[in-house]
Amino acid sequence: TVYQASTTAPVNIAVVKYWGKRDPKLNLPTNSSLSVTLSQSDLRTHTTAACSSTFGSDDSLLLNGSPQDVSGARTQACFRELRSLRAALEAADPSLPKLSTLTLKIVSENNFPTAAGLASSAAGFAALVRAIADLYQLPATKTELSKIARQGSGSACRSLFGGYVAWDMGSAADGSDSQAVEIAPASHWPNMRALILVASAEKKGVSSTAGMQTTVATSELFQRRAEIVVPKHMEQMIKAVKDKDFELFGKVTMMESNSFHATCLDTFPPIFYLNDTSRAAIRVVEAINEKAGKIIAAYTFDAGPNCVIYFEEEHMAEVAGAIKSVLGSVEGWEGKGEEVKTSDAA
Ligand code: DP6
Repeated sequence: TVYQASTTAPVNIAVVKYWGKRDPKLNLPTNSSLSVTLSQSDLRTHTTAACSSTFGSDDSLLLNGSPQDVSGARTQACFRELRSLRAALEAADPSLPKLSTLTLKIVSENNFPTAAGLASSAAGFAALVRAIADLYQLPATKTELSKIARQGSGSACRSLFGGYVAWDMGSAADGSDSQAVEIAPASHWPNMRALILVASAEKKGVSSTAGMQTTVATSELFQRRAEIVVPKHMEQMIKAVKDKDFELFGKVTMMESNSFHATCLDTFPPIFYLNDTSRAAIRVVEAINEKAGKIIAAYTFDAGPNCVIYFEEEHMAEVAGAIKSVLGSVEGWEGKGEEVKTSDAA
């Protein structure tokens, strides 16, 4: 018998950034973060988890057709935790099939460039954890699953939810309170849109995992960011979302991105994620807002040069028009950009 379950998980783009680990083994962050989940019809990972006694002895994972190494500590932590939850169910009800002892075969597909700073690990680990949890028919809540996904990749914990999602850093040493919670569903602010400008679909230079460890070890600016800047931005961002206050949302989003990239520059040796193309995008957004006389568009960049611009649907023409007319002529942009809706996770 082959048992199997399939699911999809969306990409999320942080507006308050996670950058820094206080415990690399349990993947516990040095600050809380907040993201907006993008529509699954645009950007998502689709994953099927299967288990069977006919699968041989080694668990396996295929991503976009290529075999991945599953022996790493992160994937192992996810497998181990999910198996032990299933084993507890089986112990409580001996009539259940012993799936926890069977070899796992995971098949995943992304419909966007992997590791190009487009949060592929977020959707990837969220889908992996959800698919195995579904396969094992675990009664776990999304917040409980978020603690497992977090151990795969920090940002993945936020992709278990749709809409506006916070990752509370927590304070427990064992990570039991470092989890994702929904701040508001997408339907609360349904006209929010994201425009993704792909400056480069290549794999990024410095991985976020390695980059943030160097930042924690070397940047003095980082300490101020984690202790003072981010707590303030979290408070303001939660208020902006609750009030659907785009001006505040946009201002904090841009200042957060700038603070994060300043911290990268303050890392030794420095980490450069933004390039000339990214800076051109920042200038276009500034021009759009200047022309409007208020903040109607907000840029943000993760660990790569690609730009995500948040705006409200009613400003689509102004925002997309300015970007197309200016960036259409900027060398380095691979795509004209893609408009995606924000959405609730399935
Ligand atoms: C800049 O979640 O990829 O996108 O936990 O080491 O897997 P690991 O890091 P990852 O880092 C994401 C960093 C970021 C900001 C964010 O998404 O909050």
